This record gives sequence, C-alpha cells and structure tokens, in this order.
Amino acid sequence: MRNLLIAGGAGFIGSNFVHYILERYSDYRVVVYDKLTYAGNLDNLKGLERDPRYAFVHGDICDMDRVEETMRQYKIDAIVNFAAETHVDRSLMSPGSFIQTDVYGTYVLLEAAKKFGIERYHQVSTDEVYGEVLQGSSRESDMLAARSPYAASKAGGDLMVYAYFISFGVPTTITRGSNNIGPYQYPEKVVPLFITNALDNLPLPIYGDGQQMRDYQYVWDHCEAIDIVLHKGKPGEVYNVGTGVETRNIDMARMILKLLNKPESLIQHVTDRPGHDRRYSLNCDKLKALGWRSAHTFEQALEKTVRWYVENEWWWRKIKSGEHYREYYERNYGQRQVLK
Ligand code: NAD
Ligand code: TYD
Repeated sequence: MRNLLIAGGAGFIGSNFVHYILERYSDYRVVVYDKLTYAGNLDNLKGLERDPRYAFVHGDICDMDRVEETMRQYKIDAIVNFAAETHVDRSLMSPGSFIQTDVYGTYVLLEAAKKFGIERYHQVSTDEVYGEVLQGSSRESDMLAARSPYAASKAGGDLMVYAYFISFGVPTTITRGSNNIGPYQYPEKVVPLFITNALDNLPLPIYGDGQQMRDYQYVWDHCEAIDIVLHKGKPGEVYNVGTGVETRNIDMARMILKLLNKPESLIQHVTDRPGHDRRYSLNCDKLKALGWRSAHTFEQALEKTVRWYVENEWWWRKIKSGEHYREYYERNYGQRQVLK
C-alpha cells in the first residue's frame, strides 16, 4: 500500500493523520482530497507543500468524475475517508449537507473503490452512531441507534460501507472513534471553543446541566488506531476507538479554566441542545487485540491541547475573527437563554 487518498485531509483529524502518515512511513504518498468547506483549512497542512510525497486536490467527494480522475492520476491503492459534515449543532440547523456528504459522498468513494479494485477502503466513523448509552459500553455488534441528523448520516455511511463489502467484496474497514481533541480542531467543538473563549475572558456556554459525558481522546492516538486498522484490520470489520474513560462536560470546563488560571465564574449554563445525548461509551477490546493502546490519559490530552491553542493564536484567531464564524456563533448561541 503506497498511494493513499485522504478524503477530508484538510480538516482536524484528517490533517493530523496526514502528518502522522508522512512522519511514520517514508515510502507512502499522500493525496489530500478536500472540498475546503468552512472546516477545511490549508493552514493545517502548512509546510507540506515542499514534500514530494504530498499532493493536494481541491474536490468534493460527491463529484464522481473528479474522484475517479484523482484515483487514476495518482494510482490510488487505498482510500481513508475523513470527509464529512461533523458538527451536531449545525446538523440541527441544516441537516441537508450532512446527508449529501456523509451518505451520498461515502457512496461515491465506495463506487470508486469498487471500480478501481483498491486494496482498502477505510471509513472514519463515530461513537455517535450507537446513540446515547446510559449504562455499559457499546460493542461493534451493537445496534445503531443514532439520534441526531449528524449521527444518522454517519450511520447511513457506515451501513453503505458494509453493504459494499457484502454485495461487491470491496475490502472495507470502519473505525468508530470517541471525541477527539488536539491541534487544528475548529473552535466550534467544545474543547477548542472553551479554551479560546477562556483565553479571551468570554463565557464558556455549557449546554443544560453539564452532566453529559464524553470520552475525549488525543487525536494522535486516534490516528495510530486508524493506521493499525488500515494495515491489520480484517475486511468487513468495525473497530471502536476510545480511551474507555468518560468525563462530564462541567468537569472538563473546570479543568480547562484551571489550566489557564481563569475563574470558574466564566462558566455559563445555557439552553440545552435538543436531543442532547447524555453519554457515549465504547468497549475497545477488539482494537486492543490488534495491539493498540491509548497513549494519553484525558489529563495529558487536555494539557497538550490547551498548550497548543495557547501557542498557536495565529491559527485560531484567523478563524474566530472571520465573518463565517461570527455568523455561526450568533446563530447557535444568540437565542440560548442563560440558565440560573
Ligand atoms: P472536520 O469538520 O474538522 O473536517 C472535515 C473535513 O472534510 C474538512 O476538511 C472539510 O473541508 C472536508 N469536507 C467536508 N465535506 C466535504 C466534501 N463534500 N468533499 C470533500 N471534503 C469535504 O472533521 P473532523 O473532526 O476532522 O472529523 C473527521 C472525521 O472523523 C469525520 O468523518 C467525523 O465524522 C469523524 N469523527 C470525528 C470525531 C471528532 O471528535 N472530531 C470523532 C469521531 C469521528
Ligand atoms: P461537541 O464538541 O459538539 O461534540 P459532540 O456533541 O459531537 O460529542 O460537544 C461535546 C459535548 O459538549 C456535548 O455534550 C455538547 C457539549 N457542548 C456544550 O456544553 N457547549 C457547547 O457550546 C458545545 C459546542 C458543546
């Protein structure tokens, strides 16, 4: 496996994966295929332009002709698909683009994988497809019970991936990861939002009571897991990726404030997200059997992430001062009431 097509490689996890692969494998070529939506950012890939093993193609995964032309031009051996609309709150405001990219776009990439007979198609999916898990932990064989338009679109993508394995023998794998944190995460997701707001002494908007739980993992650990599944995973299989440790949002917010030496009075409880999933939790035994271990505890992951945002204001200030971000912020937070 030499020539990788990394769809969505200009986004948060995709760009980390590109850096990871180029560091790890000297003989791999990486072709980033990305539409550059609001979440795609060439700053995430800065410095790679000079690397002969790296190429960038500006394209939409829903565009069959462009995908096929890229597959042909770069003699692609494997596709890793990160491309998606990814933010739950946006999926509540406008679900259409989620269905288009996360379901139809996945179908287009699978068609290309089938047509070109590639070695592996890997789909990067999420723990959210299992729906909220109040007790215990999700196993890969559990029923999909997505509850937000984002999660439902990702579940649709996963089912299509499986259908292409069963129906056409495309060698597919899927990873379902828990929440990632780390460098280059667009500051609409809770951790970078809270860090950057805190740095500017702005309120940290906690949805509802803040007792919801997420398993926050360091993005580099997730990249390692994808690498392992790509090379050692069995076609047709799904692998969960997470630390197995969940943290309440309110505790995560307090930890960020403590790391930044900011007062807890910045925490502001606001109107909850509709249909807000209280908890996700993954059983990752299947992946561990392939030799993977999460290298960072939540505390280490959060500390590294906070440090990165402190040291890289150039990256996030550009985004947060932009028109698009400000409009989104007003749309998502403007109407929410501050709860007592
Ligand atoms: P992101 O929103 O930061 O990046 C998405 C990338 O996909 C962007 O570069 C964007 O330009 C690109 N893209 C969107 N639509 C496209 C299209 N139609 N054609 C081509 N490119 C398109 O997302 P992320 O947080 O890096 O997530 C990457 C993947 O991992 C997603 O599939 C997501 O569902 C999954 N995932 C994310 C998390 C998380 O915590 N962020 C956790 C588990 C799984
Ligand atoms: P988010 O980063 O949007 O990821 P996801 O909902 O896909 O897990 O949100 C993580 C958690 O933080 C989730 O429980 C919702 C909560 N949250 C807030 O409390 N306030 C916010 O402003 C945001 C964006 C999220």
